[in-house]
Amino acid sequence: MTPSTEGRRNQGVSELKQRLLGNLRETRLLGSSALNNLLILTRLERQAKRIGNRWIQFRYDPGKTLRENVGFAHTPADDAGLRKALEDLQRIARRCLSPGDGVLEIGCGTGLYLKDFDAQYALTGLDISPEMIKVCKAGIPHASFIVGDIMKTDIQRRFKLIYLVSVLEFINRSDLSRFFARMSNLLEPGGFLFVHYPHALRWMDTLYPRLKYIRYSPRLVEKTARKHLALIEHHHAFDERIVGRYDREKGSPTFQNSYLLVAWKPVGSAADVSPEDDPSRRLPTWTEVGAESTR
Ligand SMILES: C[S@@+](CC[C@H](N)C(=O)[O-])C[C@H]1O[C@@H](n2cnc3c(N)ncnc32)[C@H](O)[C@@H]1O
Repeated sequence: MTPSTEGRRNQGVSELKQRLLGNLRETRLLGSSALNNLLILTRLERQAKRIGNRWIQFRYDPGKTLRENVGFAHTPADDAGLRKALEDLQRIARRCLSPGDGVLEIGCGTGLYLKDFDAQYALTGLDISPEMIKVCKAGIPHASFIVGDIMKTDIQRRFKLIYLVSVLEFINRSDLSRFFARMSNLLEPGGFLFVHYPHALRWMDTLYPRLKYIRYSPRLVEKTARKHLALIEHHHAFDERIVGRYDREKGSPTFQNSYLLVAWKPVGSAADVSPEDDPSRRLPTWTEVGAESTR
């Protein structure tokens, strides 16, 4: 093949790729479960999402409340869900943190959760949206902030507690294992991970009709997290029910339809508490992982 033929062929391939990705961006294809599952299977959904520029939706609108800006409504159901998530996060924080410990919130949005931690901890908020970080900086002056994608940003320090609320759904399906590996890497030994995520309500949800908002099945999240960390809690965030693949109970999706996963990075050898080595796959207790009861 002469250099000019090869050049033309490369140009043709590149145009075809642009046309396909252009179509994806324009939408309809991103709404197709069949195509999305194919993209996930072939691990191409990262590119599709990158081109689609997902994060544009997280523009800060000063006409909206802090909560509305991160996609939550002012309904009694969301009020109760949010209150419970805040209580659970503070419950875990009281158990595992001592003054001076490092805390990282991933996807901190407008700071709804970070603002409840006081200055005795070394607080860091990270968000992919510069606008959200600007709002956080103004409201929470005692914390440090990073603008960046959690899957790419180089973070040097290690943390005692890392938490994320309503962010896991924006992590690519094919990046899920890499995400938990990264969490393990960012935790100091003996550190804790708190993940609050909207889970699949119906079987159809697990078919990923919307790539930008994946409702994971709790079973998949648990299986993946266990490869990297020891699980301590994993249940419905609002009422502590355990569901596997999806929530069989009928209900409308609200902030209450979330799952809560709390995991621990073992001190020393991972085999100490590795659930992979534990035939009963029992979750270690809080005492076993060395966290004090409520202070
Ligand atoms: C639904 S909002 C939740 C905000 C906050 N956690 C809360 O519950 O109030 C999701 C946030 O995650 C951020 N985000 C999404 N993907 C991210 C990524 N890959 N890295 C860092 N932040 C991300 C968005 O910019 C947005 O602020």
